[in-house]
Amino acid sequence: MSVDVLVGTQWGDEGKGKLIDVLTRDVDMVVRFQGGNNAGHTVEIGSEKYVLHLVPSGIFRPGVACVIGNGLVVDPVDLMNEMQSLKDRGIDISAIELSDKAHLIFAYHKRYDKLKELAAGTAKIGTTGRGIGPAYADKAHRCGIRGGELKNLESLKVLFTAECKKYNKIFADAGVETLNIDEEWAKVEVAAKYLAPFVCDTVISVNKAAKAGKNVLFEGAQGALLDIDHGTYPFVTSSNTTSGGACTGAGVAPRYIDTVWGVMKAYTTRVGEGPFPTELFDASGEELRKIGNEFGATTGRPRRCGWFDAVISAYSCMINGVNKLAITKLDVLDTLEEICICTAYELDGKVITEMPTNANELARVKPIYEKLPGWCQSTAEARSMADLPENARKYLARIAELVDAEVAIVSVGPKRDQTFLA
Ligand code: GDP
Ligand code: IMO
Ligand code: MG
Repeated sequence: MSVDVLVGTQWGDEGKGKLIDVLTRDVDMVVRFQGGNNAGHTVEIGSEKYVLHLVPSGIFRPGVACVIGNGLVVDPVDLMNEMQSLKDRGIDISAIELSDKAHLIFAYHKRYDKLKELAAGTAKIGTTGRGIGPAYADKAHRCGIRGGELKNLESLKVLFTAECKKYNKIFADAGVETLNIDEEWAKVEVAAKYLAPFVCDTVISVNKAAKAGKNVLFEGAQGALLDIDHGTYPFVTSSNTTSGGACTGAGVAPRYIDTVWGVMKAYTTRVGEGPFPTELFDASGEELRKIGNEFGATTGRPRRCGWFDAVISAYSCMINGVNKLAITKLDVLDTLEEICICTAYELDGKVITEMPTNANELARVKPIYEKLPGWCQSTAEARSMADLPENARKYLARIAELVDAEVAIVSVGPKRDQTFLA
């Protein structure tokens, strides 16, 4: 019986969705605790492929409670569509719970997100355009609208109309098209009616499950380097993506947490703007993108690709308290004759092994690489450590040593069964 947190250790898209689905075989409840539909979590089961944005990746295991916790920002129209499309594909969605404290994202947040990005020009963050930042800003400004309001159409309409008017003034002042409040309300009303039966105080259900000794798994979104406090600020998302976020984002006390799973891609990717020391701009970067199919699950944007960076990954394991690593996409490196690992940076003539906090400094560092021989054979069929070529095992061992955590799971393909315990 355990309460575990699973987080991304890089800049997102490490394969969290796949790992949650795999681990949920032995779990009673999966809880998302931050972010929103900026996330895109892919789960492949047999010939079926699903991309989840708000619904927890435990949804494919019958009987598992799937909680959308208080720390999220939720677009009600998109959530309704996501739930309905799962239902249309024969997935039981009745075990979904939506927190009455989660903040809601409306059309005005999305429009404002895009307006801010446009105004920032070359200094843009490269957001997903899903209104994440503006919705979290409204939460901090204490003018956000929460999930509980979905159960009260009358007061929801009053609140929504007032906020929409406020944003329309901003849009008009900026010379941007304003929103038609009646049209937008009509969409919100449909979604509110659909979602109302799923809204509850999820803090109670999560704590009841933890106290009853159930297996609870917290599903992180994004990655540690996108954390609003610890990431490459300002090129980050607007929530705490690190393991500590599970406590505030679900209302569960730190003493309940047993294991912190860190999902770590065998190389590095990033979507959007911001520093990325090991980014590859040559044919090998293109190769990783092609073999790894590195295109955003939410926006379809090509992901920037680069070598494994042990400096950022070790920092990430430290702030998350990772004690078990799930290394994913090892198979993507199968054809490479030589593989690089960044073990330190050079900054202004000095060698450093700690990640600089300042994004401008991180943008100036030069990675120092250690070269390891590749294995030049397929790992996709491996189902145990013993099945892996020796050089692949050495590569994993070196990563574990550099980030100071134990490799517990290895993933060698997108399917459920392409996973084994280390
Ligand atoms: P998430 O956001 O962390 O859930 O990750 P995404 O779903 O955005 O991106 C991970 C991508 O890699 C998805 O297309 C997965 O199907 C795929 N994937 C996951 N694990 C592996 C693996 O071990 N090998 C390969 N080749 N693909 C994987
Ligand atoms: P998953 O859960 C990768 C990135 C965006 C942008 C920055 C801010 O699938 O790993 P936002 O819309 O959150 O304000 O954008 O964060 N970003 C992600 N990158 N995976 C994600 O989620 C991401 N969610 C946000 O590209 O750089
Ligand atoms: Mg993703």
